[in-house]
Amino acid sequence: RAAAVAAGLTVLAGAQPALAAPGGPGGPGEPRYSAGAPGVGDPYFPKEGNGGFDVRHYDVAFSYDPATRRMDATTTITAVATQDLDRFDLDFRGPAISALTVGGHPASFRRDGQELVVTPRPKLKSGKRFTVQVKYAGTPPVITDPDDSIEGWVPTDDGAFVPGEPQGSPAWLPGSDHPTDKATFTFRATVPEGITVVGNGQLLSQTTTGGRTTFVWDSTEPMATYLATVTLGRFQVARSATPSGIPIYTAVDPRLASGSAATVARIPDIVEYFSSLFGPYPFTSTGAIIDQAPDVGYALESQTKPIFSSAPSLETMAHELAHQWFGDSVSLTRWSDIWLNEGFATYAQWLWTEHNGGATAQRTFDSADNYGRASTSSFWRTALTDPGPVSMFGNVPYNRGAMTLHALRGKIGDAAFFTLLKGWAAGHKYGNATTADFVKEAQSVSGADLTGFFDVWLFKKGKPTTW
Ligand code: ARG
Ligand code: ZN
Repeated sequence: RAAAVAAGLTVLAGAQPALAAPGGPGGPGEPRYSAGAPGVGDPYFPKEGNGGFDVRHYDVAFSYDPATRRMDATTTITAVATQDLDRFDLDFRGPAISALTVGGHPASFRRDGQELVVTPRPKLKSGKRFTVQVKYAGTPPVITDPDDSIEGWVPTDDGAFVPGEPQGSPAWLPGSDHPTDKATFTFRATVPEGITVVGNGQLLSQTTTGGRTTFVWDSTEPMATYLATVTLGRFQVARSATPSGIPIYTAVDPRLASGSAATVARIPDIVEYFSSLFGPYPFTSTGAIIDQAPDVGYALESQTKPIFSSAPSLETMAHELAHQWFGDSVSLTRWSDIWLNEGFATYAQWLWTEHNGGATAQRTFDSADNYGRASTSSFWRTALTDPGPVSMFGNVPYNRGAMTLHALRGKIGDAAFFTLLKGWAAGHKYGNATTADFVKEAQSVSGADLTGFFDVWLFKKGKPTTW
C-alpha cells in the first residue's frame, strides 16, 4: 500500500497540468478559477480545514533531535481539487518554510496566522489530483487551546509528546486540520539511536545506521488530522495481540512501567469487550503510548495508539480505546457535536467498569457527580449540543453525554440501544456523523417518537425530570 502510494506520487509530480476546456472564454466547461475557502466554517474553529480540495494522503518525512529540538521535515500531500483553484490554503503553525511545490512546480506562498496561502502555477482544475510538497525546519510550537490546555508539539525530557485535539496537528504538519477531511498517512521519522518514534498504524520498518534510527509508520485507514501522532522518547516497546488477532504495540516510558503494567495488560480484554458491544474493532492494529508529559494532564485517543501523559487508570484506558469506535472511526462533523465523541467514550467506560466488577452504569448515572447534581449547577445550565470551545472537554459533553445514552437505553430497551450503537459504528465507519443523524437513527431503530426525550436531554438546558 505504501509502495503504491509512493509510486503514485512520482507519477503525479511529473504530470502535465490539465488543459483549459475547449470553447473559449465563457464557453461551456470553461474553468472558473477562484480561491479555496480558508476554513470549513466550523462553529468553534472556523479556520480549521480548507475549501476547494480534499486531502487523500499525507507523507510526512522528518528528522528530529530532542537535544536541539530541531525538526527538518518534508511533507507531501496528495489531494484532489473540488473546484477550479487559483489559490488555496493549508493549516500550518509550524516552523519556517524553505520550499513549496505544487505538482512539482515551485508555488508562491505566504503565511497569515494559522493559514498558509498557496498560489499554484499552473492553476488546478476541479477534479485534478495534485501533490503539495512543503519543506520546513525549526522547532514546532506548543499550541494553547481555548481551555488553556496544551497540545501540538510538547517537548519532554527525552523527546516530544504529540497530541492534536482539536487544533494541534498544524504545529508540525501542514494540511487540512478538520475531521471532515480524513486521509491516510505515512510517517518517516529519523531520530538519534535509542529514541523510539511511535506513530499511528503499523510499523513498516525500523532501521539504524550511523547512530540514527528511521521509523516508518503507515496508517492505511482514513484518519482525522487531530488523531495523528509521532510521539517520541525513550520507551519500552512490547508487542502482543488481542484474542481475535489484532496486533498490539505498546510503548511505555520506563519510569511509568510498573505503574501502568496492570492497565496495559487489560488492553486485549477491553478491545474484545467493546467489540462484543459495538461491533468489530475498526482498525488493523491497536496499542498505547504511555509517556511522562506532566504539563499535558490529559490522554488522547490518537488513532490505533492512544497517548497518555502519565500512567493511566483502567477507566482512562477503556475510555481512549472506546474512542477508536466513537470519534476515530465515526468522527464528528463539527466540533460542537463533541458529545458524540466524549459522551460515547464515557458511557463505554461506565459499561467497562460494570463489566469489570465495579459500579453499575446505573449507579454511576445516579451518582452525585452525575444525575445527583443540583438542578441549579452549571452542569445543567449548558446544552449538550453546544458546550462552547472552552468547555468542549468539560463535564457536560463527557458526563451529561454519557447520561443521555444511559437514559436512552432505559427508554428504548437494551436490544434497540445496542443495535443502535452497532449500527452507528458500522454505518458511519471511517466517516463523519452529526447529532441529527443520531436522533434519526435512534428513532428509526426503536420505532419510538423520541422528540421529547432528545429535547430535554440534548437540546435544552435544564435538568431533565421526566423523559
Ligand atoms: N479527547 C480526549 C479524551 O477525552 C481529551 C482531549 C483534551 N484536549 C484538550 N485540548 N483539552 O480522551
Ligand atoms: Zn474522551
